[in-house]
Amino acid sequence: MTRKLEGKLVIATHNAGKLREMRELMAPHGVECVSAGELGLPEPEETGDTFIANALIKARAAASAARLPALADDSGLCVEALDGAPGIYSARWAGDSKDFAGAMARIEAELQALGATTPEQRGAHFISALALVWPDGHETVVEGRVDGVIVLPRGEKGFGYDPQFLPDGHALTFGEMTSEEKHGLPADGSRALSHRARAFQDLERLVLR
Ligand code: IMP
Repeated sequence: MTRKLEGKLVIATHNAGKLREMRELMAPHGVECVSAGELGLPEPEETGDTFIANALIKARAAASAARLPALADDSGLCVEALDGAPGIYSARWAGDSKDFAGAMARIEAELQALGATTPEQRGAHFISALALVWPDGHETVVEGRVDGVIVLPRGEKGFGYDPQFLPDGHALTFGEMTSEEKHGLPADGSRALSHRARAFQDLERLVLR
């Protein structure tokens, strides 16, 4: 059973970069968005072992605390040659100080240690799992993915690992793109670019139209 989203929505994240992108992607849909931070909601522990499990943990916690529908994103960068790391541990690799320069340097060092120097050896993808949970327990989940390669960090836009990720078929890293370019939402409704915008396209088909 599908259900349409109306009225007010909690965006269940405390990550400023994600919150900005999620608000932008929600903006055309006329849904009033309030963030978990604005409501003073606590951050639950992410104990799941998949992106979807962690997105559900965050959305369920926010929906039951706020008594409103809640949307959570769990996302990360998976590097093929590193067996998918950092994956669901992407935020944790940056530590409490959110040192993404350090986390990107670790990825580069681990690729160098494996002798991974060609683009073919440096394949990676971003995943965004979105969970939308209503206070009565109704749930919708979607997942978006974008493939690319790991490069030396370039650009200061975006957040997290954006400067290190060059999406396939593009000349600019996510860190060099404006957020509109990174979303890459075509006017004709064809496929978006970023993992998060692709997941939003699926969510839109399920609950926003
Ligand atoms: P979590 O979903 O809150 O556990 O954290 C996901 C982490 O993955 C973020 O803190 C970023 O480090 C990384 N990440 C997820 N999506 C993106 C993105 O669009 N650009 C860059 N880094 C991202």
